Amino acid sequence: MYFLILRCLIYLDTQIIYSLKISFLENKIELLESKIAEAKLGGGQARIDKEHKKGKLTARERIEILCDPGSFEEVGMLVQHRSNDFGMENQKFLGDGVVTGFGKIEGRAVCIFAQDFTVFGGSLSETQAEKICKIMDLAVKNGLPMIGLNDSGGARIQEGVKSLGGYADIFYRNTLASGVIPQLSVIMGPCAGGAVYSPALTDFIMMVEHSSYMFVTGPNVVKTVTNEEVSSEELGGAQAHAVKSGVTHLVAHNDLEALAKLRQLLSYMPQNWKEKTPDLPYTRDEEIRPKLNDIIPEYSSIPYDMKEVIVQIGDENSFFEIHEDYAPNIVVGFMRIAGKSIGVVANQPNYLAGVLDVNSSKKGARFVRFCDAFNIPLLVLVDVPGFLPGTDQEWNAIISNGAKLLYALSEATVPKITLITRKAYGGAYDVMNSKHIGADINYAWPSAEIAVMGAKGASEIIFKNEIKQSEKPEEMAKLKELEYADIFANPYKAAERGFIDEVILPELTRKKLIRAFDLLSGKEASLPKKKHGNIPL
Ligand code: HXC
Repeated sequence: MYFLILRCLIYLDTQIIYSLKISFLENKIELLESKIAEAKLGGGQARIDKEHKKGKLTARERIEILCDPGSFEEVGMLVQHRSNDFGMENQKFLGDGVVTGFGKIEGRAVCIFAQDFTVFGGSLSETQAEKICKIMDLAVKNGLPMIGLNDSGGARIQEGVKSLGGYADIFYRNTLASGVIPQLSVIMGPCAGGAVYSPALTDFIMMVEHSSYMFVTGPNVVKTVTNEEVSSEELGGAQAHAVKSGVTHLVAHNDLEALAKLRQLLSYMPQNWKEKTPDLPYTRDEEIRPKLNDIIPEYSSIPYDMKEVIVQIGDENSFFEIHEDYAPNIVVGFMRIAGKSIGVVANQPNYLAGVLDVNSSKKGARFVRFCDAFNIPLLVLVDVPGFLPGTDQEWNAIISNGAKLLYALSEATVPKITLITRKAYGGAYDVMNSKHIGADINYAWPSAEIAVMGAKGASEIIFKNEIKQSEKPEEMAKLKELEYADIFANPYKAAERGFIDEVILPELTRKKLIRAFDLLSGKEASLPKKKHGNIPL
């Protein structure tokens, strides 16, 4: 009997402990769940609704759409600011205005931060900066691309210098990570003051039209200092930076398009500087492209669209243009050739005859350096009449800026292939990935004209006296121009010297490039040992 009572007591005891344990755990879980729910609400439903009304998504919605479904893991959800000034101790929001973490895009891992405008306008506090730095460090240590979705009123005004220090911590990391991992910035709201310098230090910037702007000083300060009246949109909207300054590489019409474009952009690059971009499966298609035979016009003064050449050479729908509206006399972007990611740099005869000027040189150089840093082979398509003459260009330093493109292409050690479709004149011939500056394979179409300058200008100089003394100077000038063109306006003098490896039929271009890039996929090259070069910035 005694034994039975004891067993009952023990049983009751364990039941009580068990139920106490359950309710204890339940409370803990409830607490965690309520914290998660609170963090997910950011600055609250009213502020979220306000963002939606503006046509903007929230930070978390953006991340959900950007990443493969269910792949995002948040880091630092429960972080709070430590500020006690201006009543800030009573205004704390879990996460402190930024969502940070890691996820996957097309199955490849990435690190992400997304500023949450519903919390103090996404402004950067000391703790927000710490969260961003932590995720950047994780990206660098693990060799993963770093994506920043920027939407912020700038430095957290209530925190003063602590916020400025936080910015500098981020800038420092952006600089050290440059060339180690791809860094991509999307501007999806305000980005003003010194805050612009973090995106500016990254590899690519995309802006969302009408909801984003970037400037060092806003319209009010501009009015005070220069008496200029300008709206935020005019001063630093997406179009201003896409067309005029070139600060943004890409523009999207809305958040959804921006995130889709970002996924696509990422597919052309590797995870870090030690890796190559994964090839897409290539099912052999029609490699001979007769349409390429019909692109070059009968007269060399007539323009044509170099993008038609790019589209014919590349895999279907694979061309992804960068900086489309800035310096359109040069075209840069990514494409695929037989599944391989390739960076293409091409003169555009359709705009300013494809001349090299200050802006096109800077645009080309920056793109070449990205491709070289991340092992993306380069294809250079040449139809260039030379450098743009004039005081505007000289005084804006076409010498130093043109040298940037020359330097970038000379320094690049990735596989480099050139195709001269038509003009390759003067110094621009050298600059545009000539054999002399390290191109691996140089092709030319039969329509190529490789010479010191165009036949007209050249013949007017060297036959000046004969033309002047002629009874019919105009006829003589034309005759001499044709004579000069006959000798030099072709690819054969260059081919005789081996500066051109092969003169190819346009229709065979894709086939030749597939084989050439395949051959070069094992290329190994290095630069002389040094601390770093000194590109003419
Ligand atoms: C703290 C801020 C804030 C900031 C906005 N908020 N910016 N809180 N610090 N920098 C808060 C607002 O108080 C508001 O809080 C909420 O965010 C939304 O702001 P609104 O003004 O209602 O939104 P909107 O009308 O869309 O205007 C957005 C804005 C404007 C244009 C960004 O808020 C603004 O001008 N903010 C100040 C920008 C600024 O001067 N930043 C400092 C720049 S200097 P409630 O509670 O109402 O929701 C700088 C130096 C960096 O950044 C240097 C780095 C080296």
